[in-house]
Amino acid sequence: MTVQSRAQELAAQDLAHLIHPLYHEKAQEGALIIERGEGIHVWDVNGNRYIDGLSCLWNVNVGHGRRELGEAALRQMEQLAFFNNYTGYAVPSAVQLAARIAALAPGDLNAVFFTSGGAESNESAFKMARFYWNIQGRPSKTKVISRMDGYHGVSLAAMSATGMSVYWDRFGDRAPGFYHAVSPNQYRLGNTPEETARLALDSIEEIIRREGADSIAAIIAEPIQGAGGVIVPPPSYITGLRQLCDRHEVLLIADEVITGFGRTGTWFAMSQFGVQPDIMSFAKGVTSGYIQLGGIVISERMQRALAAQPVDVKWMHAYTYSGHATACAVALANMDIIEREHLADNAKTVGAYLLRALEGLRNLPHVGDVRGFGMLGRVEFVADPRTKQAFPAAARYGDRVVAEMRKRGALTRNRADVVCFAPPLITTETQVDELTGIVREAVQAVDAAL
Ligand SMILES: Cc1ncc(COP(=O)(O)O)c(C=O)c1O
Repeated sequence: MTVQSRAQELAAQDLAHLIHPLYHEKAQEGALIIERGEGIHVWDVNGNRYIDGLSCLWNVNVGHGRRELGEAALRQMEQLAFFNNYTGYAVPSAVQLAARIAALAPGDLNAVFFTSGGAESNESAFKMARFYWNIQGRPSKTKVISRMDGYHGVSLAAMSATGMSVYWDRFGDRAPGFYHAVSPNQYRLGNTPEETARLALDSIEEIIRREGADSIAAIIAEPIQGAGGVIVPPPSYITGLRQLCDRHEVLLIADEVITGFGRTGTWFAMSQFGVQPDIMSFAKGVTSGYIQLGGIVISERMQRALAAQPVDVKWMHAYTYSGHATACAVALANMDIIEREHLADNAKTVGAYLLRALEGLRNLPHVGDVRGFGMLGRVEFVADPRTKQAFPAAARYGDRVVAEMRKRGALTRNRADVVCFAPPLITTETQVDELTGIVREAVQAVDAAL
């Protein structure tokens, strides 16, 4: 079978049988079928090479084709692929991974519950917050505040926390008790960082006052909002969040699903802000996407509260694959790589270089905002950079930039006219130059066709 006919057959079978995330059949026509990866590159079934400008979905932190992660999975599978991890049992790799994450997590975050991904982690975080308040004798504290432009997954409660209405439309009622505050992106309207922080914090406080602190279990926040368009908050916003939670006796859930495991320059982004959440969600980078795994870490205070209950008051929350032996073994090997190759440091230094390179695009006529934090970056395109006036939605400028980038050998994703960047943490400065060179050419091609 020729390369071309194999590609055609796969494309036909795909359209016939596979429903993808965020799916419409028409949008799937001409899909790239990726079958190999090495380092920061992936190859499609036709043999074309692409820079993976978003680490797939912000998750392949150590890059593609790491044999030792496959070997770790093989070793574990040969010995014991899976055993249940329900109370009364344990598997060594899950125990070791929990201890290792607890040692690296901010402050006294100390006890881990494992899941298979980000949405499950946030579901677990919400239920943990409710459970905690319940056993503290405060069962009315069940509501959750999140922010607009936040992304926390799409299972029903996670979807209800996600602050982008495109994920709610046409799915009927959202889960009750979820409220959305303003995102810390008010700098877009010309506000200073301090004003931005205050407006966003005031918006949360307003919800707490309206609903009553006695009904609020937790606030969930990504330290850097990722899928919402790499929204980097002023540091005072994150410290303000902690103070606000303390003032109202509300738990702070940090959703570090994207920012964890070196992405922002430390193991977890909250450490960079000097803030300890009560619960931290993680997924993605914990295994660099080589296998599904996620989890939450809770503070020692919460852990003690659980332990203080009579034995029949159990945390009745469970997933078959919680603490999956193979997934945990891969995570341990992945963390070895991050540590050995100093990938968090690389995210910091090369991330700073990436930000400077993206700033260098400002001389293009439609570049509005450019921001970054660690190995996360964003370029926002606007019709008029002086007035910040957006393109009409029909122009689909961001979509067109991403499509032109793909033609030139680089992949990433956009949210409307914000193009996001999160290359693997192994990326070099030379590779950043190549990536941003492609972005420049892509933007010039879009501008030429306007
Ligand atoms: C911050 C954040 N939280 C949660 C999720 C959901 O993770 P999953 O898709 O593994 O359910 C994502 C996914 O992109 C995310 O970016």
